[in-house]
Amino acid sequence: MKHSIAEDNLDNSHTADIPSEPVLVLRGVHKSFGTQHVLDGINLTVVRGETLTVLGRSGTGKSVLLKLIIALENMDAGSICIQGQEIAGLGLNEMNRLRIKMGFLFQCAALYDSLTVEQNVAFPLERHTKMSKSERSDRVKELLSSVGMEHDLNKMPSDISGGMQKRVGLARALALQPEILLLDEPTAGLDPITSGEIDDLVLKLQKEHALTSIVVTHDLHSARTIANRLALLEKGKVVMEGSFEELAESNDDFVREFFKRDS
Ligand SMILES: Nc1ncnc2c1ncn2[C@@H]1O[C@H](COP(=O)(O)OP(=O)(O)O)[C@@H](O)[C@H]1O
Ligand SMILES: [Mg+2]
Repeated sequence: MKHSIAEDNLDNSHTADIPSEPVLVLRGVHKSFGTQHVLDGINLTVVRGETLTVLGRSGTGKSVLLKLIIALENMDAGSICIQGQEIAGLGLNEMNRLRIKMGFLFQCAALYDSLTVEQNVAFPLERHTKMSKSERSDRVKELLSSVGMEHDLNKMPSDISGGMQKRVGLARALALQPEILLLDEPTAGLDPITSGEIDDLVLKLQKEHALTSIVVTHDLHSARTIANRLALLEKGKVVMEGSFEELAESNDDFVREFFKRDS
């Protein structure tokens, strides 16, 4: 099936019939660094086509959570199932097969400094596909045009703004047509207009490809725009999970404080 992210077949029915097939299931996930118990029994489920945003103050383990899902860090206890496959104890080859299904945007866009925009996006295609050079070049252009960066192919990361770097990072995260997208603070440090553009892009992907996503953010405006569901992390636990309205109207002291502070 052709999976063109340049197609613009937007409609507003994307949340109407989300099937409830669980794609990511975390059960009792624990992670410590030395004596610091960062994640203390995390339970989360994300179903196909859903965008879950994970909110929480700095240092609450949001980035660690994403790193556990792609096994950049190993959990101490608990279970993480990705499309029904338990990742604890998985061998490197099996984990790599799962990783290819996941697009990941690190907190700091983490483009390769010495590669051009085009080369950065081509990198996963070179590594993981047998595409010919011209197929690759077409695909890179398609990916970059879907994030509005098709005119900057030959620029170096240092020559473009932070928002543009994030967009290129997003194009690279999408290169292998992932089924799951993990974005770590995609709008942090961006001005509201650029943040809005990134949000629109995430919404577009959600609508066009029913991607299953976890987006870490502490940007409440962004969370409200893109999330089907939100989870608020504090002291290693999920303190509340629900729709934006449910969290915003919560009587829980911590949830209220969090929403008051940022809104
Ligand atoms: N590799 C590591 N080694 C030691 N401590 C770490 C490591 N990664 C994260 N931490 C600690 O875990 C806590 C949570 O980090 P992080 O997930 O980055 O927080 P955030 O919610 O801001 O993304 C922080 O106190 C951080 O210092
Ligand atoms: Mg972080």
